[in-house]
Amino acid sequence: MLKHKSDEIILILTFLLLVSNLFWLMSPKSVTKCNKKNIQIFVLAGQSNMSGRGGIIKKVVGGNVTEIWDGFVPEECKSNHKIIRFNAAQKWEEAHEPLNYGIDCLSSCGLGPGMAFANEILKKDTNFGVIGLVPCARGGTGLYRWNRGSYAYDDLIKRVKIALKDGGLIRGLLWYHGEGDIRTKNGSSSYKTKFEKFVHDLRSDLNSPNLPIFLAVLPYPKKPFEGPYIEVVRAAQLGINISNVIKFDADGLEIGPDGIHLTTPAQIQLGHMFAHAFFSLSNFTTFSFYKFFPFNIFS
Ligand SMILES: *[C@@H]1O[C@H](CO)[C@@H](O)[C@H](O)[C@H]1NC(C)=O
Ligand SMILES: *[C@@H]1O[C@H](CO)[C@@H](O)[C@H](O)[C@H]1NC(C)=O
Ligand SMILES: *[C@@H]1O[C@H](CO)[C@@H](O)[C@H](O)[C@H]1NC(C)=O
Ligand SMILES: *[C@@H]1O[C@H](CO)[C@@H](O)[C@H](O)[C@H]1NC(C)=O
Ligand SMILES: *[C@@H]1O[C@H](CO)[C@@H](O)[C@H](O)[C@H]1NC(C)=O
Repeated sequence: MLKHKSDEIILILTFLLLVSNLFWLMSPKSVTKCNKKNIQIFVLAGQSNMSGRGGIIKKVVGGNVTEIWDGFVPEECKSNHKIIRFNAAQKWEEAHEPLNYGIDCLSSCGLGPGMAFANEILKKDTNFGVIGLVPCARGGTGLYRWNRGSYAYDDLIKRVKIALKDGGLIRGLLWYHGEGDIRTKNGSSSYKTKFEKFVHDLRSDLNSPNLPIFLAVLPYPKKPFEGPYIEVVRAAQLGINISNVIKFDADGLEIGPDGIHLTTPAQIQLGHMFAHAFFSLSNFTTFSFYKFFPFNIFS
């Protein structure tokens, strides 16, 4: 009887230990080990595709249809101790999917391009150091939301400034946006001037006059989400000619069953496109220059 009782206690204790381990595993891990002075910081901004809706499925919960993430994390998007994210509570933690969680989405947050981008950089440059991702994307925002004084822009500036408090170097901003402006005449026709103002204000508010901006030119949407002004927005994006704004055409990426958001594989492709855009710039303008020429051949 006694023996039976102690077995029971051991069983309960083991169970509690397992549960607490699970909670520990799921809890965000704060970042203490890495030297925050050397973080290579990237900001991610735009609409819902940047925030990430890859792997979102519809599920019936209590008679209501809700959208939730399927939880699948492909190899390219796995966490890594060298990738951290600035979370909704404005703390650095080990980055994990869904990257934008808590910023503009909770259960409906899926995969975006951020983790695939960071993993690709670390794959191509193993000495890159720690990558700090600052997710700031907001679903459904027209470009006017990214003007000084509007919440999307102001929150971005606030988050980046706090993120930089511990040190670190801001290396660029990833931009995937435009859907919100392909439906209206004024949204599309003012896209170019609004975007130029965005770049100007951003660089001045962050004290980073040459901040690289990686601009994905919006792919053609599928019916019935085709806005009448898609050509105007694409032409505006393609026509941006500002130094250190690196454009690439993201047309051809696969759209998921909802007809309006990128699938998980497409998000991985997009992340890699951003990484290649970054390398195309960094090959000759930034510190990694010295990695290509380890001996100072110019001295
Ligand atoms: C279903 O939706 C209704 C209306 O929005 C809400 O009142 C109800 O609490 C929801 N039920 C569940 C189980 O979420
Ligand atoms: C278009 O113009 C109207 C009137 O000036 C304004 O209220 C609206 O916010 C504008 N839309 C966009 C997307 O800029
Ligand atoms: C997401 O990206 C796709 C590009 O493949 C585009 O067609 C769609 O309009 C975008 N959706 C939103 C909400 O921005
Ligand atoms: C971009 O601007 C630079 C100078 O500001 C100019 O030399 C160049 O021709 C422009 N390129 C295009 C494609 O307009
Ligand atoms: C850097 O990459 C860009 C784009 O891929 C290329 O045009 C340029 O020639 C490269 N520069 C050097 C120095 O390799």
